[in-house]
Amino acid sequence: MARCIVTRKLPFDALERLRAEHEVEVWRGAMPPSPAELRGLAAGAEGILSMLTDAIDRGLIDACPELRAVANFAVGTDNIDVAYATERGIAVGNTPGVLTETTADLAFALLLAVSRRIVESAGSVRQGEWWTWEPAGWLGHDVHDATLGIVGPGLIGEAVARRGEGFGMRILRSGREPGSGRVSLEELLAESDFVSLHCPLTPETRGLIGEAALMQMKQSAILINTARGEVVDSEALRKGLELGWIAGAGLDVTDPEPLPGYHPLLGAPNLTVVPHIGSASHATRGRMAAMAVDNLLAALAGAPMPSPVR
Ligand code: DGY
Repeated sequence: MARCIVTRKLPFDALERLRAEHEVEVWRGAMPPSPAELRGLAAGAEGILSMLTDAIDRGLIDACPELRAVANFAVGTDNIDVAYATERGIAVGNTPGVLTETTADLAFALLLAVSRRIVESAGSVRQGEWWTWEPAGWLGHDVHDATLGIVGPGLIGEAVARRGEGFGMRILRSGREPGSGRVSLEELLAESDFVSLHCPLTPETRGLIGEAALMQMKQSAILINTARGEVVDSEALRKGLELGWIAGAGLDVTDPEPLPGYHPLLGAPNLTVVPHIGSASHATRGRMAAMAVDNLLAALAGAPMPSPVR
């Protein structure tokens, strides 16, 4: 029986399977543990079921000499120093695949919401400001027949592309992987009516969408980010929306995250921000919990994780 920690309360059945085999301690706080609290919680742990809000860095890894497995409750693993964990013989796993369609749904929902001004116009009704039908009221941008640029197409990018095809959109893809139909990022930014980000956060993608990239986009274009907040330079985006370099943005992820209510970005026009809910459906979060537990159980039994990260 190994000591395992789970860094947030998970209201899913999967934890029972972990409890059946191991000693499990769950962080009970409403907020994630601070780095110091995480270190205290993880002392003596052989397994960690971590969230994207936990920094599993060198310091934490060095403080946990017994650690054998880290199962992230996310597909993204930019919160984990995977190279160092691997060097230390610690298995790292994530939850790919199960959240693809759910996250793509949210990306497309943001695309539709921003282009057709759903959030602002619905808000005006609630404010009692629906005086009459206006010939030029709440004009937005058509989604059908527009060009959708997918940056960093992996599983989620391809799932968004399929939704776009259903709307009759022309799809452009950029990314490092070779493949037919790929264009350069510059070409994609210049030609797309919607740019949807689906790349992992790496040193190469941090700040990928800054002033220069925003200025290459059409003034009528809309940016959607369901990847990681740091892929977009928040100050550049605020400036770009205020100066009309682009027409709007829909963000599920932000930098900083969470985005405080007083953050200057929130004062920008034509911006819809939701609180990192891309994978947040009952079914998908349940499947993610099951996958994370499967990863931990396998590694603690000395077997390969079903969804390893290398
Ligand atoms: C992930 O899994 O990386 C998402 O950002 C959260 O589900």
